Amino acid sequence: MIEEVKKRLGQIINPVNGKTFEVEQRWQHISVNQDKLVLEYNRDGISPAEKRVVEQEIIKTLSDLIGVENILVKTVSSQSQDVFKALDKATPSPTPNPEPSAPAQLKVGHGTIDKKKPVPGVGKIIAIGSGKGGVGKSTFTSNLALTLAQMGKKVGVIDADIYGPSLPMIFGKRNEKPRSNSDKKIIPVEAHGIKFMSFGFFINEQDPVIWRGPMLGGVLNQFLFDVDWNGLDYLLIDLPPGTGDIQLSMIQNAQVDGAIIISTPQDIALLDAKKGAEMFKKLNLPLIGMVENMSSFICGGCGQEHFIFGHDGVQKAVEQLEIPFLGKIPLEIELRTGSDQGVPYMTQKNLEGRAVWNSFIDIGQKVDHFFNPTPDKAKSGLFSKILGFNK
Ligand SMILES: Nc1ncnc2c1ncn2[C@@H]1O[C@H](COP(=O)(O)OP(=O)(O)O)[C@@H](O)[C@H]1O
Ligand SMILES: [Mg+2]
Repeated sequence: MIEEVKKRLGQIINPVNGKTFEVEQRWQHISVNQDKLVLEYNRDGISPAEKRVVEQEIIKTLSDLIGVENILVKTVSSQSQDVFKALDKATPSPTPNPEPSAPAQLKVGHGTIDKKKPVPGVGKIIAIGSGKGGVGKSTFTSNLALTLAQMGKKVGVIDADIYGPSLPMIFGKRNEKPRSNSDKKIIPVEAHGIKFMSFGFFINEQDPVIWRGPMLGGVLNQFLFDVDWNGLDYLLIDLPPGTGDIQLSMIQNAQVDGAIIISTPQDIALLDAKKGAEMFKKLNLPLIGMVENMSSFICGGCGQEHFIFGHDGVQKAVEQLEIPFLGKIPLEIELRTGSDQGVPYMTQKNLEGRAVWNSFIDIGQKVDHFFNPTPDKAKSGLFSKILGFNK
């Protein structure tokens, strides 16, 4: 099959001059890595707008052979960053002269590989990942956001899970359409005191998901840099499930400050923890810790605690790998019903004091403590220093 792939890729047209990539010898690297087709071409002279055309053509020409989520397109450029910057300036904005509060639009395409940029107006950015889908990543992210908000923090969330964006549902804002302001910035949607942005707002729930694989980096870049996040203490990113190249490329451009991995207590947890830790290590990203979700179920009828997905799997994994453990979240029906109804668990004051509630409070404090060691400790450290206790 690889020969067929190479043959077809050779026929890709450079939109700048109409010549094929074969004639221009642009392909640097075509290989299969695990289940991904990794493609790398020389993009000298190709602007970001033309690059999007090229990428769409690549996906189209291979569509009957390989799913778009398995294609990873990389580029090299001899003049690299200068070229990117100059050409990006020359590219027209997707929303020329928008009226104040015009409907927000998304550019589809790669993010430019730049050095890591801080997001203006945001204190700390936390990426939340998982080895696989359905482990409760979005449930965790939204309720952690609400917990931090209860602690007096200003919190935003980016729902970057293109495969199953669920924050509009969890926050009860399914029919919202984000607008952009007079500075051409997208205005985040607000619910329960949390500002958030989701891929879900830009796709029809029935439509096939088109911004996949190679295009994801660019859209997340827009969610980071083209959204008006001003004034946040924390911005949480709900990543797509998995610990591969897609997740890696999504966050490599932004200055992310820490990561959390969430898993269920099954055998696979150890593998997830390992892969997740490796991914964040590649990005030099401090791992705040791992969370075990669906750790047990306390039966309302018999009062007994049942370990449906096994016992302490994540805790054992983190001990073995020497990764910090943040805590366990048991199964509770209200966690699911709250999410389904747009009234997340941590907004329901009547649930205060329950096991799940207490876990979120504890984890929220640990996360905040990771970035802001408690004043008391700092103080006692200072006093003991003055008094000479630390000698
Ligand atoms: N601790 C829990 N107790 C009960 N239901 C949960 C719990 N964690 C997640 N769920 C439910 O499991 C499903 C998958 O969770 P979700 O957060 O969407 O996972 P992911 O984002 O990892 O795909 C949802 O229906 C959610 O409400
Ligand atoms: Mg999710």
